[in-house]
Amino acid sequence: MFSTKIYKERRQALKSKVGSGLLLFIGNSEASMNYPHNWYQFRQDGSFLYYWGIDQPDLAAVIDLDSGTETIFGDELTVEAIIWMGQQATIADKAAAVGVQSTRPFSELNTVLQSAKKSNRAIHFLPQYRADKRAWLANILGQTYETLNEGVSEEFVLAVASQRMFKSDEELAEIEKALEISYEMHTGVMREMAPGKKEFQLKGMVEGIVAAQNAKIAFPVILSKNGQILHNTTHFNTLQDGDIVVHDSGAVVESGYCSDITRTVPVSGKYSPRQRDIYSLVLEAQQKSIAASKPGVKFQDVHLLACREIVSGLKDLGLVKGSVDAAMEAGVFGFFMQCGLGHQMGLDVHDLEGLGEELIGYDAVTKRSGMFGLKSLRFGRELKTGHVMTVEPGIYFIPALFDLWKKEKMLTDFINYDAVEKWLDFGGVRIEDNIVITETGNRVLGKHIPRSIDEVESIMAE
Ligand code: GLY
Repeated sequence: MFSTKIYKERRQALKSKVGSGLLLFIGNSEASMNYPHNWYQFRQDGSFLYYWGIDQPDLAAVIDLDSGTETIFGDELTVEAIIWMGQQATIADKAAAVGVQSTRPFSELNTVLQSAKKSNRAIHFLPQYRADKRAWLANILGQTYETLNEGVSEEFVLAVASQRMFKSDEELAEIEKALEISYEMHTGVMREMAPGKKEFQLKGMVEGIVAAQNAKIAFPVILSKNGQILHNTTHFNTLQDGDIVVHDSGAVVESGYCSDITRTVPVSGKYSPRQRDIYSLVLEAQQKSIAASKPGVKFQDVHLLACREIVSGLKDLGLVKGSVDAAMEAGVFGFFMQCGLGHQMGLDVHDLEGLGEELIGYDAVTKRSGMFGLKSLRFGRELKTGHVMTVEPGIYFIPALFDLWKKEKMLTDFINYDAVEKWLDFGGVRIEDNIVITETGNRVLGKHIPRSIDEVESIMAE
């Protein structure tokens, strides 16, 4: 948690950005796994954490823009609850720590909202991505579950985004704490990788490293020799000499800030010649993308730069043919890099996407492309000082995509299908780091995690 002053300043700045009415923040509740009292790991809503700092379920908060009052709604623990959960700091104490003097029972929120509704006051709310909260709010506002999010306040969303999108030094320090853990997660895997191990053994080790630092995983660990499956979360394979493993994982520290790093490592400890070719190409694309990321440059253009690097390198390897310009124009890159180059990162690992991917990632100046591959870029806007981005190009050989495109004779002027066929057992390579855009360019966040072929092979040899 940050100082009281920081939370007060964040709310004060927000108040000056939205006209009048109520700003409603809805914190998350526990989510049941398989019966009511067996819960998934609790995760507070990112915007609730940003303005109110309290990492506890079943809270909401309201800023009355007309009177200037700030209230947190939630129920103090009953003795019955204390028996199961132990004594804890009160909501009133936690509220005071973030500069809020007024706390009220949760049920009174309904009264406040009903009264605002009756007086035709604006109730600004953010998109509701959890089913329980969406149903609850729809009921209170007299909307349906399906239509509720049509009533989201764009003014509120953009005001929140205009603050959360730009990371302060305190926030960067928290992200770098998460990256310290990422360093341990990745070097741990590099050191422990060996033929005969199961993917789940390494995944379990990664989760243990995170838990032992009083942190949580930011998203389900991706650790697989089937790196071509972009978000593969199964871990049952036995690793063998000659396999290459994509390990994409992140930590969330106590304050809620995240890291998200990918390395791709050879099981044998040495990249084969084929693996070196693809790895070097992805690394070059990543380094050029990082070098190009600076204020005033659209991230969409950085994505295309990475793609051009990949297409040009694959042409040298004989997998792509024809003019690189024409191949880029035709969208050949989507066959090899089907996802976006990166995304914002902060309190959410895909930061702010809960507020609406389109509204946050694109604007009047930058429109989302419909082209396969590029359309999956979650954030295409112009980069500005303070943005924190992941930069994660990759090359993926997906047999099902090959079968489909070959059958449909897609881009046959540019894709050398006979050559690509020999690579269908390769898997994939992704290399990811986290950067902050600075006034003059960018800074790669966190301690350096072995990335070059020599660095990875050398730590694996230890
Ligand atoms: N690195 C995981 C993700 O971007 O979703």
